[in-house]
Amino acid sequence: MKNSTTILKSTVSIGLDAPVRFLHLTDSHICLDDEGMESGRQSWVHQHFENCEIEYFLALCEHAKQKGLPIVHTGDLYDFQSERAFAFTDEHFAPLDYFFAAGNHDFFHTWPPKGYSESGYKTRTLPLVAPHIGNDLIFASRVMGGVNFVSLDNSFYKITEKQLSKLRTEVEKGYPVVLCMHIPLFSEEHAERLYEEARQYTVGQPSCFLLGIPEEHLRLYKEEHRREQTCDETTLRAIEYIKNEKRIKLIVAGHTHDNFEEVFPSGLVQITTHGTYYGFAREITLT
Ligand SMILES: [Fe+2]
Ligand SMILES: [Fe+2]
Repeated sequence: MKNSTTILKSTVSIGLDAPVRFLHLTDSHICLDDEGMESGRQSWVHQHFENCEIEYFLALCEHAKQKGLPIVHTGDLYDFQSERAFAFTDEHFAPLDYFFAAGNHDFFHTWPPKGYSESGYKTRTLPLVAPHIGNDLIFASRVMGGVNFVSLDNSFYKITEKQLSKLRTEVEKGYPVVLCMHIPLFSEEHAERLYEEARQYTVGQPSCFLLGIPEEHLRLYKEEHRREQTCDETTLRAIEYIKNEKRIKLIVAGHTHDNFEEVFPSGLVQITTHGTYYGFAREITLT
C-alpha cells in the first residue's frame, strides 16, 4: 500500500509556440454499491485497489484545481455504474474542467456486468452513464491552447468506421492532435512488461490488454481473452492511420494500470498512466 499520491511529470515536444499543460488522470474505478446491492465487488476492489480509490481521486482532483490544470481522464472513471457512483461524480468531478475518453468499466452496469461481451451491450448501458459525463463518450474533440484533444472510445478493443472518419476530419483541421483513448496501442516492449508483471500471479500465458495485438501473441492466449482482444479489420486500419499520421503527436491512455512512456518508429509518443485508484496522476507539458 502506497498511502499517498504520486504525480509524475512528462514533457512532450510537439512544436508549440507556448506550452500547454494538463493533468492526466485515468482508471479511478470509483466503486460504490447502491443500497441493498451487495455486489461483493467493493470489498474486492478495496482489498486489491489500495482501499482508498475515493480519497486518492479527491486529492488528485484537488491538485488539478489548485494548479489550475485542465484534466484529461482516459476512462474507467467508474468501476461499474451505480446511482451512488453517479451521484459521487456529479458532485466531485462534473464541476471540474475536464475532457473524457471512456473506459470499458464505464459501460459496466452493476456488478458483475452480465453479458458485457455480447454485441449491443454498450448500446444499452451508454445512455445510463452519458448524462453524467460532459462530452460525448464515443467521440469528442476540444481545442486547448492550439492543440486539438480528440477522445475516441476504443474500450471494447474496437474502433468503428465512423470514429475513424471523424478522426480524419479532426486531423484535417490542421492542429497538432493529442489522442485520448482508454486502451493503449500495442508495442512489443509494453506487452513484454505487462506479461512479466502478470506472470507473478497468472498461470499459463497472460494477455497484455493492448490494442492491435499480433496474431502470434493472440494464439497463445486463453480463448476468452483472445476473443475479447482480437481487433477487426477497421480497427487495424485505424491503428495504422494513427501511427502514421504526422499531425497526431501524442496518445494518452490507461487501462493497463501501469506507467509506460514510449515512442513509435513514426515519432508518435504514447504515454500510459497508472490509475488514480493507486494514487497516480501525470502532469503533461506539451511544448
Ligand atoms: Fe482500469
Ligand atoms: Fe479498462
